[in-house]
Amino acid sequence: MSKALTYPSTANLNLNDIPEAYRPQVTNFNQYLIDGELKTWNGNMAEVYSTIRTENEKGEMTPTLLGSVPDMESEPALQALESAKKAFDRGKGQWPTMRVRERLNCLERFADKMKNHREEIVKLLMWEIGKSLNDSQKEFDRTVDYIYDTVEAYKKLDQKSAKFEKEGGIHAHIRRSPLGVVLCLGPYNYPLNETFCLLIPAIVMGNSAVFKPAKHGVLLITPLLKAFQECFPPGVVNILFGRGRKIAQPIMKTGHVDVLALIGHSSSAVALQDEHPNKNRLRLVLGLEAKNPGVVLPDADLDHTVKECISGTLSYNGQRCTALKVLYVHESIIDEFNKKFSEAVDHLNYGLPWEKDVFLTPLPEPNKPQYIKDLIEDAVSKGAKVMNKKGGEMTYNYTYPAVMYPVNDDMNLYHEEQFGPVVPIIPYKDINEPLDAMAASDYGQQVSLFGRDVRKIGPLIDILANLVCRVNLNSACQRGPDVYPFTGRKNSAVSTLSVFDALRSFSIRSFVASKDNPYNNEILESLLNSNESNFVSSDYIL
Ligand code: G3H
Repeated sequence: MSKALTYPSTANLNLNDIPEAYRPQVTNFNQYLIDGELKTWNGNMAEVYSTIRTENEKGEMTPTLLGSVPDMESEPALQALESAKKAFDRGKGQWPTMRVRERLNCLERFADKMKNHREEIVKLLMWEIGKSLNDSQKEFDRTVDYIYDTVEAYKKLDQKSAKFEKEGGIHAHIRRSPLGVVLCLGPYNYPLNETFCLLIPAIVMGNSAVFKPAKHGVLLITPLLKAFQECFPPGVVNILFGRGRKIAQPIMKTGHVDVLALIGHSSSAVALQDEHPNKNRLRLVLGLEAKNPGVVLPDADLDHTVKECISGTLSYNGQRCTALKVLYVHESIIDEFNKKFSEAVDHLNYGLPWEKDVFLTPLPEPNKPQYIKDLIEDAVSKGAKVMNKKGGEMTYNYTYPAVMYPVNDDMNLYHEEQFGPVVPIIPYKDINEPLDAMAASDYGQQVSLFGRDVRKIGPLIDILANLVCRVNLNSACQRGPDVYPFTGRKNSAVSTLSVFDALRSFSIRSFVASKDNPYNNEILESLLNSNESNFVSSDYIL
């Protein structure tokens, strides 16, 4: 049933036709970072391909080989864990006991070095995960900004702690301390940004980490291994490549991981937690799946709503955990909405990531186009229609976004987080219909509410704020700006991330307490004046 999507620049792509700045170089990277050493991997390598096809020597169109990375085994994974444990050294390590100022210096040095790799990382983002040039640049820049913002946020946090308090006859010097060893796993859709939004706050708080890149977006981490090695003491950051089954599971089984930091699917998070023998030791920092709804009220400005719904549902082809994954539209405006929205979808530009004004780009997961097609067919077989002309047109690495209406709970599209280019629309008569669906959902990240009558919107916000963690008024759902709390209810998240909140999530309050008497006070004063403790300090970082 699917129609072919014809797009001239993707049909017969020869590497020589690609502007030099965006042409990929094959990178065979056989190193990994453990205990401050860039070691050479002599075992199996995994080839990395882009789903963007280019012409090979025989004139056939095949997935483009981008390079290879180590396909590592459990043994080096456990060595990486040992290295992280050694760096933390049960709280005695140089890194967890270091002055905050010195840790921040390491981080700033790293950010400065990272900036030198912008061009190659942006190019790899385009080829490995099909992200547009503009969005790839944004991902890189946003990550560098995140690091500098983290430095400032930690300074403020530290400034607040640089004092003694006194309550109930007890002096207290309260700070945030690291938790120990962090296993850090990021997602493929933001392989740089979201991974670093876990890794950076984790290490700067004094933890040590073992980090494995996601299944796609792996090569783009390789230019940074040397910078990690040069900027942090041995064992603070350990970087491995390979499958989660061989790397993450054996590490969790040891019971020596203190924090599982993962952005991905809740099934992986649950499977990894299940491996850990000591559940109460394990802290969780998780960003998981969501099915964020857009709720369109009868009085919404439709042109504005359509614009926000396009960006909400289809930015980066809908492959965002914050994407609008279902639209509830009031029945009185549904026909007009469907018409405007479908036309807008059909006007979106599909093409190669570096092409000018491109919006829709190739999907990095080889099976995704078929999965999206299956969702469309299942919905059609149960009564939905494809509302837009181009909806469901296919190529080997893309399915043109299909606007599906009317969708109901018999359809897979209603239940599954599609994470791709297909948009389910559900009509409603009574506002309790979307509210009940949200309450019954396993997810609770964000919602977009479109409308203008404050007598309607006001009470609705009061309810929605109890069902999700961010109510976007006449605006698409999104994570940023990164100073705002990013979290979710139910199966959508555990703990909160933002520049500031992440520092809290990866640490615990710990304090020195001393009864108020002349003997103790004299000791405390000389401790403060002596500089003998990095923890007990009234130094103020500017
Ligand atoms: O994949 C989920 C991301 O956190 C979404 O971030 O809203 O900035 O695209 P974003």
